[in-house]
Amino acid sequence: MRPDQSPFSSLPASLLALLAPLTLLALLTLLAALGLGGCEQQSAAVTKAAPGPIPATRQRPGDAAAGYDALVNRSVVTCGLPYSAYVASTGNPAPEFALPGRRGRNAELPYALTAFTAPSGVELVTSNCLGCHAAPLNGELVIGLGNEFLDFTADPVLAVEAAGAFVDDPAEAAEWQRWADRLGTIAPWAMTDTIGANPAVALTLALMAHRDPASLAWSESPLIAPPPTPVLPVSVPPWWNLGKKHAMFYNGEGRGDHVRYMMLASTTCTDSVAEAAAIDAWFGDVRAYLASLEPPPYPYPIDTGLAATGAAVYRDACATCHGQDGDYPNELIGLEEAGTDPLLAEKGYHEADRFIRWFNRSWYGRGAATRTEPALGYVAPPLDGIWATAPYLHNGSVPTLAALLDRHARPTYWRHADPRPDYDQDALGWRYETLRQGREQFASLDEQKWVYDTTRPGYSNQGHDFGDDLDPAQRRALLEYLKTL
Ligand code: HEC
Ligand code: HEC
Repeated sequence: MRPDQSPFSSLPASLLALLAPLTLLALLTLLAALGLGGCEQQSAAVTKAAPGPIPATRQRPGDAAAGYDALVNRSVVTCGLPYSAYVASTGNPAPEFALPGRRGRNAELPYALTAFTAPSGVELVTSNCLGCHAAPLNGELVIGLGNEFLDFTADPVLAVEAAGAFVDDPAEAAEWQRWADRLGTIAPWAMTDTIGANPAVALTLALMAHRDPASLAWSESPLIAPPPTPVLPVSVPPWWNLGKKHAMFYNGEGRGDHVRYMMLASTTCTDSVAEAAAIDAWFGDVRAYLASLEPPPYPYPIDTGLAATGAAVYRDACATCHGQDGDYPNELIGLEEAGTDPLLAEKGYHEADRFIRWFNRSWYGRGAATRTEPALGYVAPPLDGIWATAPYLHNGSVPTLAALLDRHARPTYWRHADPRPDYDQDALGWRYETLRQGREQFASLDEQKWVYDTTRPGYSNQGHDFGDDLDPAQRRALLEYLKTL
């Protein structure tokens, strides 16, 4: 049995991270309404995008410093575990990483948790964005680095129930119940069966299915058909590319005002338009902070001569799609050309119209210049800080850059060599072991969940063969250059 890395100490990572499911409207398509200023189309047109360059949209101005402060101190999720039960069930461990600028109770909590006093007066511990969007690297916590070691394989209801044993006062019990009910309803979409596979996309769609789009009121029974299970694996993208990207999300569907998409992270407990509008008022600052982030520099030696050779290889083989030297083209590449696992894009394009309509009619998609336009393809992302963001591709199927640049070197079955990130300076990625078979070789779920099996639907490591024709010397030089981005 391999110990799991959890940024939340004794609480399961999945439990708190999923309180802030994010968002992705990955599957949504969306809204054409937009851009038509004022003209609200109740018919909720569904529009879709074609591959090609993604046009820019003006983003709201915001104050990055205020955004950081809000990110580490304010709560977008307004339900959670009563603080007293948190203390009783966890022993209130000292945080492993102290985030600068955390105030009051927050300074005592692990970075992925935020203190919030509910209108009932009960103090709660809620999840925040950093559960998925921050990760340890060489002993430091990097904000904006996706955590690819999270474990969403456990049923969150078990942990919620266990914590419930520590709740006694009636006001606290009512808060706990609200939280437990929400998590119980969305649990099937909060789970994946492989470490690192993130359920945020499915979770967001499941939450939409349980809300009235006009009032945002919660409904225990679904109002539209929830998304399918099993949940497709998605890797968490770094935040530091947001400032360059015209559209959010792997399939580029997040067009227009980025703030409204990020805010969907609050949909677990945001039960009215007034609450959503209150969050919207400060979330522009959070976006400004995310857009101001820079990638962490490569911390080991770089052979600059070799990297210069690699820059030329990159110019010929990679730059048209990924950009170079500050010039980023914002290209969405069709499925055939990209060649990578098509399922996430296909489902977002062909099977998500009901979510698109929900979004179009909802407060999130109305008024603000926000629209969802999925395409049958994937965005070629900026490669800034690419050395740090393994595993690669939208589904996290390729463990290192060396394997990404040579399709024949990609393992069919693999697992992390260490349950904590262990960097491989030759292959550029987390050290991994190649396995000869899939998860069925292991008897216990604790071992099975560590196996990344690329033969399963949605998990394929196919395609992106743009490095296959390079000779070994060119590939070596290109890898050296990628360290400099
Ligand atoms: C449960 C894990 C999880 C939580 C919590 C979470 N996110 Fe994410 N986030 C993801 C995943 C997975 C994606 C990629 C989805 C996709 O592209 O289809 C993503 C995508 C994004 C993106 C788009 C990045 C890009 O390059 O396209 C932004 C911005 C973002 N999240 C911001 C936030 C903010 C702000 C919060 C908190 C309010 C948050 N997220 C909470 C998992 C999470
Ligand atoms: C025809 C356009 C195109 C070319 C040429 C291309 N790429 Fe890509 N690249 C993409 C697309 C599209 C994706 C996203 C695919 C996905 O996530 O499924 C991608 C993804 C990647 C990723 C993974 C990013 C991540 O965050 O997981 C890396 C690394 C990468 N490319 C490097 C390169 C290098 C190095 C080259 C040159 C040898 C190259 N690419 C050539 C289109 C291209």
